[in-house]
Amino acid sequence: MSDFEKKVLEFKNKLDQIKDNKLVETIRVEIFGKNGFINQEFKKIGTLSADEKKIFASSINKAKQELQDIIRSKENELINKELNEKLEKEKIDVTLPEKEFKIGKIHPVSQVIDEISCIFSEIGFSVEEGPDVENDYNNFTALNTPENHPAKDMHDTFYLDKNMKTLLRTHTSPVQVRTMLKGKPPFKIIAPGRTYRSDSDQTHTPMFHQLEGLHIDKEINMGHLKGCLNYFIKEFFEVKKIKMRFRPSHFPFTEPSAEVDIGYRIENNKIIIGEGDKWLEILGCGMVHPNVLKNCKVDSKIYQGFAFGIGIDRLAMLKYGINDLRSFFECDYRWLNYYGFDPLDVPTNYRGLSR
Ligand code: PHE
Repeated sequence: MSDFEKKVLEFKNKLDQIKDNKLVETIRVEIFGKNGFINQEFKKIGTLSADEKKIFASSINKAKQELQDIIRSKENELINKELNEKLEKEKIDVTLPEKEFKIGKIHPVSQVIDEISCIFSEIGFSVEEGPDVENDYNNFTALNTPENHPAKDMHDTFYLDKNMKTLLRTHTSPVQVRTMLKGKPPFKIIAPGRTYRSDSDQTHTPMFHQLEGLHIDKEINMGHLKGCLNYFIKEFFEVKKIKMRFRPSHFPFTEPSAEVDIGYRIENNKIIIGEGDKWLEILGCGMVHPNVLKNCKVDSKIYQGFAFGIGIDRLAMLKYGINDLRSFFECDYRWLNYYGFDPLDVPTNYRGLSR
């Protein structure tokens, strides 16, 4: 066997053993590259006699053809192998059970905020917002709360600094202050949001929700307040008549102040709102104190009006028959699935769409 034939055989064996297409390419360059085996052999032809030339050239061409064919089929073989491996790996098992698909629901608190906002927007209230982290001035001082007021006690308020200047708002009333300070009267707003107090039992959670209302204009009086709340409660509970009473109360930021109770009775373990001889407190309200108007740069000789603060969570519990307030905030998916609302269902009080 000549050196040439030995070399050709060596290449054939090498190609036979290769398992990676990148190596095929390396060998292809070794054989057919500019300075590769074939070209080197052709260069030798010049030193041969005419007869030898013919024979050698034809054996080079033969080897060239052979090696080209081997490389091509090796390449095909390896590409197919790779493809089959990939197909094998990516095989989809159609018999596997599908992944659990959880559909979200609207939390009753969000639902009730939407309903209340719709009801008040029908009579011209717009929606305002304020931050959960408030300063002592907006939460207490501007609202005419004296320094020694029990609500300022460490046990009720979550303070965020040692100087007791920054806190988690204890009610939505600071939004009254913010609204009046940034605008000009008249004001007719509601402000739903989170509020915080250091309290926890079946009907109290450290975080809860309130909805503030404020209506300031030249001739707004207690009669307007009563009419407005009467309309709201009837709309919210979807009843034609409502038993409602104003109980004298005290808030530093309203004068006179009242708490509003609604009548109810229990029938077959269900609560019937609007009738019966039991009373349930649902909100605090009153005529905005002149000192608050003064603190908020509103002229109390020209302007006056009412404010109210509604406990949203309690209204949601009443309307949708939920017993434990704490369950609202436990983030239990099963609970939400049961008490939550379908986002595509139009709420009964959503007048904006149905009218
Ligand atoms: N801010 C009062 C509370 O949290 C409620 C309230 C608001 C009372 C507005 C009067 C006027 O209890």
